[in-house]
Amino acid sequence: MPELSVEQFQSLSQQIYQRLGLHFDEKKIYFLKTRVAKRMAALGIDETKDYIFKLNYSDPEGKEMQALANLVTTNETYMFREYEQLQAFANYCLPEVLSAKQARGERTLRIWCAGCSSGEEAYTLAMIVQEVFPQAQSWDCKIVATDIDENMLSHVKAARYGERAVADVPDEYLQKYLIENDEDWLVRPRTVALVEIRHLNLHDRTAMRSMRGFDFVFCRNVLIYFDDLSRKAVIDHFYNALNPGSYIFLGHSESVGRVTTAFRLKRFESHLVYVKE
Ligand SMILES: C[S@@+](CC[C@H](N)C(=O)[O-])C[C@H]1O[C@@H](n2cnc3c(N)ncnc32)[C@H](O)[C@@H]1O
Repeated sequence: MPELSVEQFQSLSQQIYQRLGLHFDEKKIYFLKTRVAKRMAALGIDETKDYIFKLNYSDPEGKEMQALANLVTTNETYMFREYEQLQAFANYCLPEVLSAKQARGERTLRIWCAGCSSGEEAYTLAMIVQEVFPQAQSWDCKIVATDIDENMLSHVKAARYGERAVADVPDEYLQKYLIENDEDWLVRPRTVALVEIRHLNLHDRTAMRSMRGFDFVFCRNVLIYFDDLSRKAVIDHFYNALNPGSYIFLGHSESVGRVTTAFRLKRFESHLVYVKE
């Protein structure tokens, strides 16, 4: 495997940080080395310095950074992950937002699943929406699933999952929203139709500014790979993307409060959620 010196690691991790917002500390040197080795083999580059040069000065359209991004992201996910949060969404937040919309005569619902990986979370949200709100099909209702990793987005498109991905799906939902096919499970077309897939880098300001009018943002288990500064920038964008009275859900270890005071913490029985006032 080609060598990666500490200086080269620093140069690479700085590039990755600037373009993707992902923060790699020196403990990740071996991880990055193996990923870079893969890219170098694919490109037929022998010297690490030549690869770094290409990434820094000879990648005008960002194609090589995209190829590297596909290798350095962590994509762990499964359906109905962090069930308690989903209960708060299903039992309190979603009904509240829907009745406010109905009272105003609105018939649109927009949910952004940011950092959707292979799509399990987006389809989980689509199942919950249909369950809580059977009229969803007659509304203009979309779950916008975005990720930087192109390979993951093709999994979202395929909407085909193995046993591990569906292990936590309640039985009733499994029968209703998925179809068993060979060893796998296919998401039923009605549920697939609610999910719109988009490639989006959370660190791309222009792309982030185009995201507006959302009623919910789910960005769970994504910002743990960012540092405080890049996390704050992303959360500020989420704030602008949300309508007043809308909710943001981050992963358990990623409190919004640490980086911004813009959202208000709200309690529904034992559940704590963040709302934009
Ligand atoms: C661990 S997965 C989380 C999946 C899902 N949200 C969940 O909680 O199960 C993290 C995802 O964030 C994506 N990601 C990381 N950095 C990103 C960036 N700068 N822009 C968009 N997506 C990013 C990764 O590609 C990966 O699929």
